[in-house]
Amino acid sequence: MSDRLYIFDTTLRDGEQSPGCSMNIEEKMRVAHSLATLGVDIIEAGFPIASPGDFEAVHRIASEVKGPCIAGLARAHPKDIERAAEAVKPAGDRARIHTFIATSPIHMEAKLRMTPDQVVERAVEAVKQAKSLAPEVEFSAEDAGRSEMDFLCKIVEATIAAGARIINIPDTVGYMTPNEFGARIGELMTRVPNSDQAIFSVHCHNDLGLAVANSLAAVENGARQVECTINGLGERAGNAALEEMVMILRTRSDRYDIETSVDTTKIVPTSKLVSQITGMPIQPNKAIVGANAFAHESGIHQDGVLKHKKTYEIMTPESVGWNTNRMVLGKHSGRAALKSRYESLGVEIDADQLSAVFERFKVLADKKKDIFDEDLMVIFSGDSEVELERVKLVSLHAASGTKDAPVAAVELDIEGEIHRATAQGDGPVDAAFQAIKSLVEPNGKLLLYSVNAITAGTDAQGEVTVRLQDGDRVVNGQGSDTDIVVASAKALIAALNKLPNMHAKEIHAQHSGV
Ligand code: KIV
Ligand code: ZN
Repeated sequence: MSDRLYIFDTTLRDGEQSPGCSMNIEEKMRVAHSLATLGVDIIEAGFPIASPGDFEAVHRIASEVKGPCIAGLARAHPKDIERAAEAVKPAGDRARIHTFIATSPIHMEAKLRMTPDQVVERAVEAVKQAKSLAPEVEFSAEDAGRSEMDFLCKIVEATIAAGARIINIPDTVGYMTPNEFGARIGELMTRVPNSDQAIFSVHCHNDLGLAVANSLAAVENGARQVECTINGLGERAGNAALEEMVMILRTRSDRYDIETSVDTTKIVPTSKLVSQITGMPIQPNKAIVGANAFAHESGIHQDGVLKHKKTYEIMTPESVGWNTNRMVLGKHSGRAALKSRYESLGVEIDADQLSAVFERFKVLADKKKDIFDEDLMVIFSGDSEVELERVKLVSLHAASGTKDAPVAAVELDIEGEIHRATAQGDGPVDAAFQAIKSLVEPNGKLLLYSVNAITAGTDAQGEVTVRLQDGDRVVNGQGSDTDIVVASAKALIAALNKLPNMHAKEIHAQHSGV
């Protein structure tokens, strides 16, 4: 009989802590639905005390997303725990409070300014309180990787006795090496007298590129929950990548007789959705989900693969959701087929959304021959923030070449009024940006501009990500189109729409007010 590893996804909490990766509530809902379709066991939906927006996101996910347990993070403080309990409550018997306190000497002395005994006492109180408010309680010993073993055993025993049924051992700063971390988990499970009453979990950061290796070593030593994120998002260098963890266990089932509940064919669509929403591009050579992960370039490799795929492929691209997504839908396809395709991608779509998306689908089908799942996700995403769009692109004309200076003319709808501007730039994209930026304020400092071809062929949709900074606020915008200048303009406008107080510049020579 094979064993079971619980997959705890923290894309919406630790993943969202990646610089520049914050998501709005609608985006979080889409990611949460997609994680449920992927089949993760637990979704850590956020940190409810952190802000009213975080609370609302956790509460809505707990109310609307069916299937996985929904966890809310809480420091070991009564108010945090109350707020987390309230947020996850709609999930009923699938609600989990995840409470934590730091246990390493440096964190206890320098950050908490508490003695080890005070830390144990606080942790026990927190677990007891959480236990009285939610059916499932997880306790994390933050910076466990750098904590003293005797103290770690003591706090783990005390929190299990207080009612925690999941004990998480984070390598918060990504300091551990696999042998060392695996041994730590093994030792805890042997030394803590009541360890059989809890599932041991790990949460590894990737500062030294060892997050997945450390998580795997922990699993080899008895951990049965792994905390991970899609595409390895997370604080600093990120967390263990869910797709890698799951595919290691599946591909090496000869070595690990351990199953997960993840439907691996949903990995690539979920990864693309998260990348698109967060604006965090996937490096082409990223394992499993990178564009090159299954590309064979050298002649010898191509020859081998043509003769027998297994010469150079240890898993099939289809098994992780690549190449299964070529749409047979075309411009003559109907709504029912479109709806059913969205359902298979894990996107719930109501009648109103379907009508709007169907219109966009028809427009795209007129422009390009092959419609891929990524195209559908892009089309769908255009739908979610319609009411929040203060600025819309009405038209764009850009001209460039080897002789004349690149120039762009834009027409924007800013809160119902049409505004026009023309500008020159270093290239057509720069000219379009100058023109758009001349019409609104604040218009932010450009921190990142990246372009990805998100589907194949020269008629591919190009996806552009723009990151802007205004004061201490960093926002991302994505835009896609078969025309890269238009995609860039859309991305800039999407980012501008996320800047609070963004509005039309008061006086503009070419303002035409309709
Ligand atoms: O890295 C960490 O220690 C955490 C905890 C809150 C689990 O994110
Ligand atoms: Zn973390």
